[in-house]
Amino acid sequence: MRNPQLNAHGELQHLLTIEGLPREVIVHILDTAGSFVGITERDVKKVPILRGKSVFNLFFENSTRTRTTFEIAAKRLSADVINLNINTSSAAKGESLLDTIDNLSAMHADMFVVRHASSGAPHLIARHVEGHPHLHVVNAGDGRHAHPTQGLLDLYTLRHYKQDFTRLSVAVVGDVLHSRVARSLIHGLTTMGTPDVRVVGPKTLLPEGVEKLGVRVFHDMNEGMKGCDAIVMLRLQNERMKGPLLPSAQEFFKSYGLTAEKLALAKPDAIVMHPGPMNRGVEIDSAVADGPRSVILPQVTFGIAVRMAVMAILAGN
Ligand code: CP
Repeated sequence: MRNPQLNAHGELQHLLTIEGLPREVIVHILDTAGSFVGITERDVKKVPILRGKSVFNLFFENSTRTRTTFEIAAKRLSADVINLNINTSSAAKGESLLDTIDNLSAMHADMFVVRHASSGAPHLIARHVEGHPHLHVVNAGDGRHAHPTQGLLDLYTLRHYKQDFTRLSVAVVGDVLHSRVARSLIHGLTTMGTPDVRVVGPKTLLPEGVEKLGVRVFHDMNEGMKGCDAIVMLRLQNERMKGPLLPSAQEFFKSYGLTAEKLALAKPDAIVMHPGPMNRGVEIDSAVADGPRSVILPQVTFGIAVRMAVMAILAGN
């Protein structure tokens, strides 16, 4: 069966998930992002790659980093950017998602950047616009399923600081169960040949059978930290939890919060990552979040170049 995000020529038509994305496509996105890094600087001129194209940001769920960096990225590429305010749109009057898409398509949309609480919403839109090859869908996070541009910017960050994926130990720590970020990063790392990907957390916050994704499972954080090159901390996604999965946030911090003491068990040059938003004192101590090993804010900046790369490649440039 054809990969739904590739066209008949094997080119990227939509970006829906990292799962099943060929390694060479990921490398192409990361290399293209590298070529854009300078253009993300404030005083550098825009490039005309998306001139005359309309990018619609459709965020049915809250966002700070993803929505804003998509907007900056699209503007850097000279696109017209339309941010639909979902709360004041006709979605609030009961218009269906696909009717909204049809109406925006009638306004000559070229690209939809979609965040939705329901897993699969971007896939549904991509299927709906099949037969319109000028239309592209980018998943900006769907339910607990996937967040491919976050996974790609995480890969970009790892490659920037650590160069070679095939020599890395990466620990993903915390609420993996509800995390689309974790799923996308794990698929990306395994595709790129990372030999040691670990998930660390209590049984209640790790998906059943997670080891089938090619990861090692640790319930003891001290064990999970040993010898790591990078630690990716995850937020407790309370909004997705059905019932109490933890005794308390304080108890969670004691066992799985990243402190300077726990970080000392990783390699001396290990980097600390977090997709944001952070909950200080729950999954990460401020001394670590703001410390010299943290690359959390550079991740955000790299996100602009990575999103520029994705949109430029989709538009055929
Ligand atoms: N990392 C991330 O998706 O952050 P936002 O929810 O702020 O977009």
